[in-house]
Parts: sequence; structure tokens; C-alpha cells
Amino acid sequence: MSRVHNFSAGPAALPLEVLQRIKDDIPDWQGTGMSVMEVSHRSKEFVAVAAHAEASLRHLLSVPDDYSVLFPQGGATLQMAMAPMNLTGPGDTADYVVTGSWGKKAAGEAAKFCKVNVAADASDKNFTTIPDESTWTRSDNATYLHYVPNETIAGVEFHFVPGGDVPLVADMSSTILSRPIDVSRFAVIYAGAQKNIGPAGITLVIVRNDLLDRARVDNPHLMTWKSYADSDSMTNTPPTFAWYVADLVFQWLKDQGGVEAMGVINARKASKLYAAIDASDFYTNPVATDCRSWMNVPFILADSTLDGAFLEQSKAAGMTNLKGHRSVGGMRASIYNAVSEAAVDALIAFMAEFERTNG
Ligand SMILES: Cc1ncc(COP(=O)(O)O)c(C=O)c1O
Repeated sequence: MSRVHNFSAGPAALPLEVLQRIKDDIPDWQGTGMSVMEVSHRSKEFVAVAAHAEASLRHLLSVPDDYSVLFPQGGATLQMAMAPMNLTGPGDTADYVVTGSWGKKAAGEAAKFCKVNVAADASDKNFTTIPDESTWTRSDNATYLHYVPNETIAGVEFHFVPGGDVPLVADMSSTILSRPIDVSRFAVIYAGAQKNIGPAGITLVIVRNDLLDRARVDNPHLMTWKSYADSDSMTNTPPTFAWYVADLVFQWLKDQGGVEAMGVINARKASKLYAAIDASDFYTNPVATDCRSWMNVPFILADSTLDGAFLEQSKAAGMTNLKGHRSVGGMRASIYNAVSEAAVDALIAFMAEFERTNG
């Protein structure tokens, strides 16, 4: 068997232990004589998986009891619409802090449902920084403030939680479970699964219960958080396989020592990669140092004509998906939980060798 070091931004690497367990489980899952993909979502075996996944997630993030944990479909993108559909009426205003492409997309989606006030916008800085909170132009009557704690494309991350009393709605797709968070600071957290949770197809929403009654009456059933809360996310046939894998990933995380242990490893992985980039004139990271992402590390080669050779040779050395997003160019290493420290060490060694031979 040959496994590469996969630096994909998503769908991203999954832990090998989880993949092996899936392989073992596939033909005869839990003695049912079927794979998990073939059993009813209402079977006692699957209902137990769903309950275990929720309990594990609650344990990992210390989710307070007055929050619901939902597992809808539709990815983070659907939540960009569901947040305003579930929290606002047409005349309400929501504040959006735009520090990257995903925040911009979320603001555009919300504008279809409510008034949007862009309280801060870092597009004039090519999304390489977070405007100082004191400069944000927040509205007096915002129903909520939406932001993206980690912008996956440009690699910009908040290392603080915005202040104020307005309920916070956070798209945590590319940072969730990478370290401990204080869920009680947020009204709503949502995340697509395909980075730190599991395969694409399932979505995580953590919502404070007192917000569940605000949905518009004409919302489709499947776009109403309360429908999921009232049905243990079995509103319709759920993505059972993705849910089962997410449960295995949560268990794997618990076995690693939880998000506390992950946070220590992730801080170390990011800091050694940034240190290697900063120590060289051959590579640069364009992001302001106080808001560099732990999960997505873009880097530009001083000579972009070497990009093709870098990608080709890194692939030959067993490292994939290092091409940067087309809007940023250069390279991007996504170093989520399942990307080991050894993989980051291998990348750093490769970068040094490539610089030595091409610099
Ligand atoms: C921060 C962020 N938000 C939203 C999305 C879109 O997620 P999905 O494809 O699950 O809708 C992504 C995808 O990479 C992302 O990184």
C-alpha cells in the first residue's frame, strides 16, 4: 500500500486508522451482514452511531446543554443561506465581516434574505489581513454578526473572537476541531465536513436552542434548523455513510487526546512551516503574521516560473494537492488534523531541497 502526504484543502486527508476501519467494516458491519450504506437510518445500529457521533462531538467541543447539534446536508454553502433564513425577517439587518472569499460569498447569500451591512472588508488588501476590530462599522440593530474564523483560500485566521453582545454566527468549516473553542461565545457555528470531520455530504451545525424559533414560516422543512433539532437530524434520509465516518473521526480524535492535544500538535505543525517559509527568500507567505492560519498555509515562490517544477517534483516525492487556489496562485499546504507532523516535516525538507537545487 502506498499513501501520499495529502495537503488538499478539502475534501482532505482522513486518518489512516479510520480508513482501515471502514475497509474492515464494509462487507459485514456490526454483524448485520450488510455494509453501513445498506442499513436503514432508523435501524437500532445506525441510530446508535448517530447518537454516538453527537455525544462525541459534544464531548470534544464541550458543547453546552442549551445548544443543539445538527447534521444536515448541503455543506457550509447551504448554511450561508440557512443562517439568514432561520434568524432574520426580511427587514432585519445582519452584519458581515468579510476577510476572504467565503465571507464574501456568505454576505452575498444573506443579501437575498435580509439587509446586509458589511462591517469590515479586507478585499482591498487581497484578503491578507483582518481589519482591526475598532475600525469595523457595525450596525446598531444587527440580528447577528457573521464571520469566517478561518478563510481557507487565503489562509487568514482570527486568533480572537469578536466582542459585543450581538449573536455570533461563524463558518468554522476549515478550523473546527483543530483546537479547543468556547462554544458559549457563539450563537451558531457551522462547518462543512470535508476537512476535519469526515467525507463531504454531511454538515455540522451547532445552534443555541433559544434561536430555533426564529425561522421564517415559509422556509422549506429541510432549510429549518428546528426540523433537524426535533428529529435528531433524521428529517429525511440522512447521508448515513458520511455520518458513520464522522463518528469514526470523532472517536479517533478522542483517542488522540481530543482537541486539546490536537491544538498542541497543530500549533507546532503550523509554526514550523511558517518558520521555514520566513527563513527563506525563496518562499513567502503574504498573510499578516498575527492572522496566519494554522490549517491553510499559502506560500509563493519568488520565481513563479518554477511553480510547475515544484508541483511535479513534490508529487514525485509523495506530496499531493499543493497547488494554491487560482485566486491566490503559488502553493497552499492544508495541514488539517489528519495531516501528520511527519507529513509537514517531509514538506519542509522537500522545500529546502527544492530551494537548494533551484535557488
Ligand atoms: C470556510 C469555508 N466555507 C465554506 C466552504 C464551502 O463548503 P461546502 O463545499 O461544504 O459548501 C468552504 C469550502 O472549502 C470553506 O473552506
